[in-house]
Amino acid sequence: MIYIAVLGYGVVGSGVVEVVRKNASSIAQRAGEEIAVKKILDIRDFPDSPDRELLTKNADEVFRDESIKVVAETIGGIGIAYQFTKTALSLGKHVITSNKELVATHGPELLKMAAENNVHYLFEASVGGGIPIIRPLHNCLAANEITHITGILNGTTNYILTQMRRAGKDFNTALKEAQANGYAEADPTADIEGHDACRKIAILSSIAYNEYVDYKKIPTEGISKITLEDMRYAEKMESVIKLVGRSMKVGDKIHATVSPAIIQKSHPLANVDDVFNAIVVRGDAIGDVMFYGRGAGKLPTASAVVADIIEVVKHKNNSGRNVWNINTEENMVDPESVKTRYFVRVKVRNTEEAEKLIKKVFGSVDWINSINEGKKEELAFVTSIDTEVNQKEKVEQLKGTGSIKEVISFINVL
Ligand code: HSE
Repeated sequence: MIYIAVLGYGVVGSGVVEVVRKNASSIAQRAGEEIAVKKILDIRDFPDSPDRELLTKNADEVFRDESIKVVAETIGGIGIAYQFTKTALSLGKHVITSNKELVATHGPELLKMAAENNVHYLFEASVGGGIPIIRPLHNCLAANEITHITGILNGTTNYILTQMRRAGKDFNTALKEAQANGYAEADPTADIEGHDACRKIAILSSIAYNEYVDYKKIPTEGISKITLEDMRYAEKMESVIKLVGRSMKVGDKIHATVSPAIIQKSHPLANVDDVFNAIVVRGDAIGDVMFYGRGAGKLPTASAVVADIIEVVKHKNNSGRNVWNINTEENMVDPESVKTRYFVRVKVRNTEEAEKLIKKVFGSVDWINSINEGKKEELAFVTSIDTEVNQKEKVEQLKGTGSIKEVISFINVL
C-alpha cells in the first residue's frame, strides 16, 4: 500500500481524492500497488465532506508521517505551496503538483531539490488540465528537436471567447459561468490577462528547449479588450479569435508570446472551443503533432495529478533526475524584432482621408468590409508583415490625426 497526502482540498484536491477512491482497483492494477489517501491538509473546515476523517489542519501530520511517500500539492500560488513543496522534497517525499505558477517560478530550484533527494517532482496537471502533454514532451517526442509550440492553454478564456462568439454572451456572464464550472483561477485576472497561459507556455518551452524559460520575459496580453465587434470582423475574415500561447526556436534563442490572435478557421486550433485546450508541437522528425482535451476543471485536472501519482509509484526508485538549466546568457529573442501581421480597426472622421493616411503609413494593406454595412464611421484592415516595433510605431502615427478619431483594435493575425 502506498499512502499519499493531498495538500489543498479545493476543486483539484477534492477531485484527486475522488478519483483515487473511485478508481482504486484499476489504479492499483496499473501502479502495481494499492494507493490510498491518508491525509488531506487544508486550513478550512469541511464539516459535510465525505473525506472529513482524513482532513487535518496540522502540517506535521503529513510531513512527520513516514508512511506518506507521495504528496499531491493542489494549493496553488507561490506562498505556502512553495514552502510545503520544499519541506516534502527535503524529507524524501515525492511531490506531484497542478501548480503552474509554482513550477514556472521555482521549477529549476524544485527540480534540483528533487534530484538531490532522489525523488520525483512531477507536474503533468500544470499545463492543459487533463491533456497528456508534459510526459509526451519528455518521453515520446524526446528524439526530436522541438522548434515550435502553439497552443490554446487557458480553459477559462477559451470558454469565454467561445460563449461570446457562439451565443453572443457578454464577457462577464461568460466569466461567471467559467467560475461556476470550476475552470477559473481563484483570482480570474490570471486567466483573463493571459498570465496563466504565460506560465504554461513557459513550462512547455522549458521542457521542449532544455533550458529554463522565465515567464516574466514573455510578452503577455489577455482578452479583456476583445469585443463582440472584433469577433464579427474575424468572422468576415473566415477566422476566429483565440488566446494563443506561442514559442519557437530562433537560432539558439527562444521567442515566446501570449496574445489574442485571429486565426483562420482552417487552422487546427480554430475549432478548439469551450474549456478545451490544444497544443500543437512541431518537431524536426515528427512534424506537427496536436494534443487536445479538457484544459481545466475538477476531474480532468485530477486525472493528470493521479496519473503522475501512478507514475511515481511505478518508478519510485528511479527519479529520472530531470533538471532545468538556467542559461547564464540572455536566451530570449527581443520580441519587438519578430515579424507579424495585425488586424487594425479605426474610427474615422473622414473616410477618404483616413484611407489615404493608412496607405501612406502602412503601405499595402488588406481592407476588411465594415461590419456596419453602409455606415462609414470605421475602417478595418490587415497590415502586411513587419516587425512588432514597426507595427506599433505605425499605429501611433494614426492616432490624433484629423481623419482618424481613435484606434479601436490592434490584434495579432496568426
Ligand atoms: N484557470 C485555468 C484555466 C485552470 O482556465 O485553464 C487550469 O489550469
